[in-house]
Amino acid sequence: MESESKKYLEFVRSRKSIRNFIFSKIYKDTILEILEFGRWAPSGANNQPWRVHIVINEKVKTMLKEHTKYGSIIESAYVNLIVFLDKEKSYDRVKDIQGIGAFMQNLLLGVHAQPGLGAVWIGEILNQKERVNELFKLDLERYELMGVICIGEVDKAIEQRSQKARERRPIDDFVEWY
Ligand SMILES: Cc1cc2nc3c(=O)[nH]c(=O)nc-3n(C[C@H](O)[C@H](O)[C@H](O)COP(=O)(O)O)c2cc1C
Repeated sequence: MESESKKYLEFVRSRKSIRNFIFSKIYKDTILEILEFGRWAPSGANNQPWRVHIVINEKVKTMLKEHTKYGSIIESAYVNLIVFLDKEKSYDRVKDIQGIGAFMQNLLLGVHAQPGLGAVWIGEILNQKERVNELFKLDLERYELMGVICIGEVDKAIEQRSQKARERRPIDDFVEWY
């Protein structure tokens, strides 16, 4: 029988960035379940410094997509999770950002756990992070954009056609044993 550990490893391994979606409604309960994965991410001193704006509205997507060259992904995703660092919850900038990274990875895994759904993390939008704050009328002093998670129903036809080789460095390449 396959061990539990191998099963989880296969789950983590089989997550991949999805950039092609077909239109299909995602129910609020599903979005809440994905957020629940994020909620249980570790963070320094358990400060949970995240803030998420959930964008489903087409008009808001249209405004948001202007701020990244990956706008077409934002537009075609059913829902976009706009993740900010809340500096009022900050205690150490490096650790805050590490916590946000854990939060966002948990969100990706939460999406992967939903049958038929896929996601991609968009970081390129950080080039225009101040503009994104303006769009949501968010105080620049308090909130700093960390990335966007675009979520939608996987377009299997395109994904199968565009199967890129997904590579990872071998373990020996990045570890030293003592
Ligand atoms: C911090 C960060 C920023 C990223 N920014 C982008 C992005 O702007 N556009 C994009 O298409 N993918 C982006 N990605 C996805 C990566 O390209 C992807 O995770 C990587 O190539 C590995 O592929 P995989 O997710 O399929 O395993 C980002 C991922 C991370 C963690």
